[in-house]
Amino acid sequence: MDKLAPLLVGAHAGSAIIAGHYAGLWATLHEHPDRKWTIPELCDAADCKERWVREWVGVLASAGVLTLEEGMIVSCDSDVATTLLPSSEVLHFFTSLEFTMDKEPEIGACFKKGGPLGVGYNQYPNFQDWMAGWSHCRNENQNFPEGYMKMVGDGVHEALEKGIKVLEPGCGRGRHAMGVAKRYPNSSFTSFDIDEEAIELNKVEAEKLGIENIDFVTGDFCNLKPEWTNNFDYVMIFDCMHDLPHPALAMKGLKGVLKDNGIVTMLDIDTSTDMVAQTKKPITAVLYNISLHHCMSVSLSSGGVGLGACWGVELAQQMLGEAGWGEGEIRVITKDIPNHAVYVMTKGKGLEGNGLH
Ligand SMILES: C[S@@+](CC[C@H](N)C(=O)[O-])C[C@H]1O[C@@H](n2cnc3c(N)ncnc32)[C@H](O)[C@@H]1O
Repeated sequence: MDKLAPLLVGAHAGSAIIAGHYAGLWATLHEHPDRKWTIPELCDAADCKERWVREWVGVLASAGVLTLEEGMIVSCDSDVATTLLPSSEVLHFFTSLEFTMDKEPEIGACFKKGGPLGVGYNQYPNFQDWMAGWSHCRNENQNFPEGYMKMVGDGVHEALEKGIKVLEPGCGRGRHAMGVAKRYPNSSFTSFDIDEEAIELNKVEAEKLGIENIDFVTGDFCNLKPEWTNNFDYVMIFDCMHDLPHPALAMKGLKGVLKDNGIVTMLDIDTSTDMVAQTKKPITAVLYNISLHHCMSVSLSSGGVGLGACWGVELAQQMLGEAGWGEGEIRVITKDIPNHAVYVMTKGKGLEGNGLH
């Protein structure tokens, strides 16, 4: 039990952290850094009921997240409250528990020989919103999109300023697409996803935001439309490849949609393929668990290979090589974005070859 007790406490604290997020308690604690509160004071400030906050404090003070002193005085370290604001990636990782824990019986059944292949997208109605929120956090933290484009280099930022044709596979709720399209009005964007509902919502949102240089369409990354062949200067991919049923097909298709010269950037999870080495880092548990409950599961559910989020940089490079990308054509950027690697693939002379550098 010695090993398990802290995990049990952590799991329950995690769910109370999420409840506190929805009640707006972290935001209130953040507004008053290191303040000592009576529970009625905290409730007044956060517009909450005392009976509920008292129980909540019981969970999180026992778990060591909050401090509770004699006289029922509550305090929260300012860095804890800041880390749990809605814009934080850490808070976002906590809220992933909402869709992982909701599906335990279905996921458990998939383990069994003769059980279902996986749990599919249609059983995760909140996933796209959660993913959009995560992408939003990343965008904020990376001064996206300009910060990201300058980080990948190779003239991508300059070419986008001049005006190029961009394809984005697996756009989900379009957070990246709309951010980039708005920042680079001279370029034109085609963003697609297999999820028709997400595409319809994106169209409405883009119209509301007055973004006119983006076309949201449905499409399958593993079976790219023939009219896209030889048509784009730049393909940008965000957190999509490892979810696909047939990533090898998608990787092969990438060269075909690029003009003779062009560039691909692929953001994906940064782990090592060496599971023994990777699992020495405890945070990896979060990545594997999201993968177990979603990334691997959705891929397997449609008869796919189920790469999983932790497929790793080594395997990604190997598969890109097998898909026809030569060693000299692939550059990998790690460490610039937390938990992510960016693969930059250059076809021909890259954007320079199209006079766009
Ligand atoms: C992890 S989400 C990433 C979404 C978005 N790029 C982001 O970063 O917020 C992966 C996306 O890939 C999409 N997807 C899965 N299989 C696909 C396929 N075969 N073709 C196109 N999109 C696919 C999913 O619907 C989902 O929107």
